[in-house]
Amino acid sequence: MRAITLHDLGAPPALADDQPQPGPRPGEVLVRVRASSVNGIDRKAAAGMLKGRMEYRFPVVLGKDFAGTVEAVGDGPTRFGLGDPVFGVVMRPYLGDGAWADFLAVGDQHGIAWVPDGLDLPTAGALGLAGTTAVDALNAVAPRPGDTVLIAGATGGVGALAIQYAAAAGARVIATARPGSATDFVRQLGATEVVDYTGDLSGQVRAVAPDGVRAVVHLAGDGAQLAALLTPDGRLASTIGFGPDQHPAATSIMASPEPATLDRIADDAAAGRLRVPITGRYDLADVPRALTDFSGALGKLGITVS
Ligand SMILES: NC(=O)c1ccc[n+]([C@@H]2O[C@H](COP(=O)([O-])OP(=O)(O)OC[C@H]3O[C@@H](n4cnc5c(N)ncnc54)[C@H](OP(=O)(O)O)[C@@H]3O)[C@@H](O)[C@H]2O)c1
Repeated sequence: MRAITLHDLGAPPALADDQPQPGPRPGEVLVRVRASSVNGIDRKAAAGMLKGRMEYRFPVVLGKDFAGTVEAVGDGPTRFGLGDPVFGVVMRPYLGDGAWADFLAVGDQHGIAWVPDGLDLPTAGALGLAGTTAVDALNAVAPRPGDTVLIAGATGGVGALAIQYAAAAGARVIATARPGSATDFVRQLGATEVVDYTGDLSGQVRAVAPDGVRAVVHLAGDGAQLAALLTPDGRLASTIGFGPDQHPAATSIMASPEPATLDRIADDAAAGRLRVPITGRYDLADVPRALTDFSGALGKLGITVS
């Protein structure tokens, strides 16, 4: 089968057409992958930046997000039937056996859910990790109606969805973005205030929230600088490792794609309550270019596998 593989640290990711097709073991389903997307962790994995933190099992088939149809099921009972449309996130304790491939074998209990009617596979393929992370981060800071939430890194895949969930919770959203199209992008998603992170971020936030912000969603930037903008009862949720050791109000989160979370984000997207802004689309063979384009891109970059 075809797959985007990494053959060694330092080697560029490339399309291979001779990867063995995985077989589903008991408790697993075999997914014919139709769509995926690029996430921050994919770029880090491809660049070898996760060395020492996760095992690289070469050749590493990259890719976290997937959407497709169930092609086969392993022995024993399974939640899914042949032909079911599914989506989710590859969760393994190592790097390899990823989603940027024609086929993917995954356990049927965690990191996978049905694609509901009204949600297309290309959109579902861009939703899993970013949507789960946005939900988990917002749950960690639990904004109330009227709270001010600062989203740092609002222009990326997670941020684009976090803006919408924070706004839906009734919060006033301050988003980081450069001037121009990035500012328009976050405003269209529900940000009421925009601050340019390349300038005096703290001063700009203080200008629109003199008493500070009740919550920070930390997807990029300096965690300590952001935490200093919190109100006394404020909370910060970080996806990039800024936690209680660095600041008492901080929680470091690891996204966990529980089926209930995947169901929620899929239902929200199907119902039009959640927009998944896919601003670029690439065929599987063009994934190396997508990884290059990822830096500086707005929202999600989608991958069409087949
Ligand atoms: N812990 C977890 O479970 C988990 C799960 C998912 C994601 N993550 C991590 O969370 C981060 C966000 O993920 P993502 O997929 O949304 O990545 P992304 O698409 O790269 O989003 C990051 C965004 O932040 C912007 N940015 C860069 N420097 C900034 C700064 N100093 N202040 C404010 N914004 C800045 C980037 O703009 P430019 O592109 O212009 O630089 C980009 O739009 C990544 O580091 C990812 O690895 C962690």
